[in-house]
Amino acid sequence: MAEIRLAIEIAGLNLRNPVMNAAGILGLTADLLRRVYEEGAGAVVTKSIGLKPRMGHPNPTVAIVEGGLINAMGLPNPGVEYFLGELEKLKAGGIPVVASFFGETLDEFVEVASRLSEAGVDALELNCSCPNVEGVGILGSDPGAVKRVTEAVKGCVDKPLFVKLSPNVSDITEIARAAERGGADGLTAVNTLRAIALSIEARRPILSNVTGGLSGPALKPVALRCVWEIYEAVEIPIIGCGGITTWRDAVEYLLAGASALQVGTAIMTRGLRVFREINMGLRNYLEENGFREVSELVGLAHES
Ligand code: DHB
Repeated sequence: MAEIRLAIEIAGLNLRNPVMNAAGILGLTADLLRRVYEEGAGAVVTKSIGLKPRMGHPNPTVAIVEGGLINAMGLPNPGVEYFLGELEKLKAGGIPVVASFFGETLDEFVEVASRLSEAGVDALELNCSCPNVEGVGILGSDPGAVKRVTEAVKGCVDKPLFVKLSPNVSDITEIARAAERGGADGLTAVNTLRAIALSIEARRPILSNVTGGLSGPALKPVALRCVWEIYEAVEIPIIGCGGITTWRDAVEYLLAGASALQVGTAIMTRGLRVFREINMGLRNYLEENGFREVSELVGLAHES
């Protein structure tokens, strides 16, 4: 019996398996991200890091809805300087680290990315698609701006750069192509979908920001369609993200064209055991269907 391999290569990164945590859900402390890796993730992804510490929006910032969560945190984070200390601890443990980052201006994007790159992150994930912060979300729906920021960042870093795309656009392939033309090494698809939760008791929106980003199983069919469309539009690899909860979801994303996967909301509903659950299910699926490697599944559903 041939050995089944979960290991993948994506944009030059060699990972022991294709399942990472999604940015945002867990924060960026070394202790927490180390636990994600110990529980079986192939790499860890930080919460989005900005240049300076940022408080984010006041509570309430999260609403639980049918099939998922709506959140509007407002990109709270302790700033890049703080994270560099945490990064040192993670790298001492040999953990592959993908740093999610954002800026409020083009220069900020470049500065944060440069500092993260110099400090030794394994890859960068450019968050140009936060739905809750004026400017950052708008950036992600403008192909010219996405190309410019991708190009500017890529010119100053020597690490693989993934651009995380927003589903809140009329044609996601246009943005995907813009990021590819700007030099992105891969795309993460997708960020959260703009949504709203109301309280009938208060007769008001629940979130202080009024609107927020929908994640979890309710997002999955939309995100899967985005991965499908992007796969047909670009050459660079895709990290699938949006409502992945079980190994079956993971297989669907691979078949649609994702080369790697991120799990966010399911960490809340399943706990950190979700990484082992998905990897075990994926291994069984490969074995039972006569495949040897994850890469053999990528995009398979597109073949006529
Ligand atoms: C936030 C950022 C995101 O990128 C997202 O998808 C949802 C919420 C935030 O910090 O508000």
